[in-house]
Amino acid sequence: MSTADPALPPDLPPDLPPDLPPDLRDEIAAMMAATDHPHGVTVGALAAVQARFGWVSDAHLVELARLIGVSAAELDGVATYFNLIFRRPVGRHVIMMCDSVSCWLMGADALRARLCDRLGIQPGQMTPDGAATLLPIVCLGHCDHAPALLVDRTLHGDLDESRIDAIADGVRAKEQAREQGTERGTEQGREP
Ligand code: FES
Repeated sequence: MSTADPALPPDLPPDLPPDLPPDLRDEIAAMMAATDHPHGVTVGALAAVQARFGWVSDAHLVELARLIGVSAAELDGVATYFNLIFRRPVGRHVIMMCDSVSCWLMGADALRARLCDRLGIQPGQMTPDGAATLLPIVCLGHCDHAPALLVDRTLHGDLDESRIDAIADGVRAKEQAREQGTERGTEQGREP
């Protein structure tokens, strides 16, 4: 992919390597050594590539398929089945807002519109600075705290306008911290 591609977040390496790096190939080889069937490693291997690059490009998917010993079409089928595997570039933070029935009943549509306003994007888009991507997702299993959304690996429920504003501000704050070199590792959890 061209280094001038405007869809790439600015934080990604300017030259996406055409080949998976040796240590990642070793990691995938170790996964394969631990299983009897190549299909047993497809999801883990895709996740490993995504953990390194933020998403799974066509070139990486083809190389991964070759390494694992399945067809690229088959591996793409796995990748596109799982909505947490990204086949397009995403922002440094991924916000996935539930659009299933409980959240919809609890007013998710209006809150999504507010979040879109705060971020300046529509669902499915990435902010121009590559800070965040907003995506829809099916039920997050947090229906008792609907409406709910996921920011990176943190689940947020009982959303209202003030919580939506705080989430958007939180993403901006993380970006500022990143720019200043003070960002801590991505946390995982749930609120509340
Ligand atoms: S319907 Fe939204 S979390 Fe279940």
